[in-house]
Amino acid sequence: MAFLCVEGLSDISVVTKLEGIATFTGMLNSQGQFNYELGGKQYSGYRRADSRISKYIWEALGDAKTVLNIGAGTGSYEPTDRYILAVEPSEVMRRQRPPHLCPAIRATADALPFDDASIDAAMAVLTLHHWPDRAKGLGELRRVTRGPIVIMTFDSSAPTEFWMFDYCPEMKVVEQKRYGDLASIVSHLPGTHQVLPIPVPRDCTDKFQVALYARPEEFLNPEVRGSQSAWKFLPPGAEERFVQKLTTDLKSGAWESKYGHLRTRETINCQLRLIVASPTHELGR
Ligand SMILES: C[S@@+](CC[C@H](N)C(=O)[O-])C[C@H]1O[C@@H](n2cnc3c(N)ncnc32)[C@H](O)[C@@H]1O
Repeated sequence: MAFLCVEGLSDISVVTKLEGIATFTGMLNSQGQFNYELGGKQYSGYRRADSRISKYIWEALGDAKTVLNIGAGTGSYEPTDRYILAVEPSEVMRRQRPPHLCPAIRATADALPFDDASIDAAMAVLTLHHWPDRAKGLGELRRVTRGPIVIMTFDSSAPTEFWMFDYCPEMKVVEQKRYGDLASIVSHLPGTHQVLPIPVPRDCTDKFQVALYARPEEFLNPEVRGSQSAWKFLPPGAEERFVQKLTTDLKSGAWESKYGHLRTRETINCQLRLIVASPTHELGR
């Protein structure tokens, strides 16, 4: 299989073939999605809601009294001042929910066990890129939600100050394929849409990749990378090459001289976005 050793990979079709290898290792399921039963065990240790990001979500939910959290995971970003309906397919993730939060219902976005227009608002935080049928899932979200649907995701075609793609060009291809473009997301949500860039703070407690822009050493911890699903979609050897190059550059000072100025930057402009999709008329009333 010649594609196993491709350097500087840039063809999405090649990445698709490579996903077969991750499936073989069990980290992706038969639909090519990240397997949270195996890969989600360390999630709550490193992926904790950041209070500054929480504010964006809380405000976007408006005066909703009932909120559906879809792909709820371990409960990050769930407001505690509203009635929450949490939906999460992975048992490993459901079991990491802290005791002060409601238990999560076992279901997936494409078949929600709720009546039409029965919930005030919905939130979907860093989950859409995991859904095998995004159109169906968004249709279901719109069906059950009367008011705003709040989606936190990455706009993979937007500019970014993050240095990851310099160190791992394969990551750019992988992320573009996983996240898709924002237009295709909102096309499934009739009504009005607002898209807000979310600045990521330097000491962000939710350690998704860009959150570590000023803390490159954290990437050398395999548990930190293990809590970030993107690594499992890379071609074989790419993660190891990244770790090796970053280790060398941190030792030699090469990272510092190129990106050291980011260590003191309070926030970074990146691809993190909040989509707020509202129906033209509140549904079901
Ligand atoms: C990166 S985690 C985000 C969890 C949580 N929202 C957070 O911000 O920490 C993605 C979550 O989406 C869930 N997920 C995957 N496929 C899904 C689907 N088809 N429907 C709903 N949730 C799904 C995963 O099980 C996982 O818990």
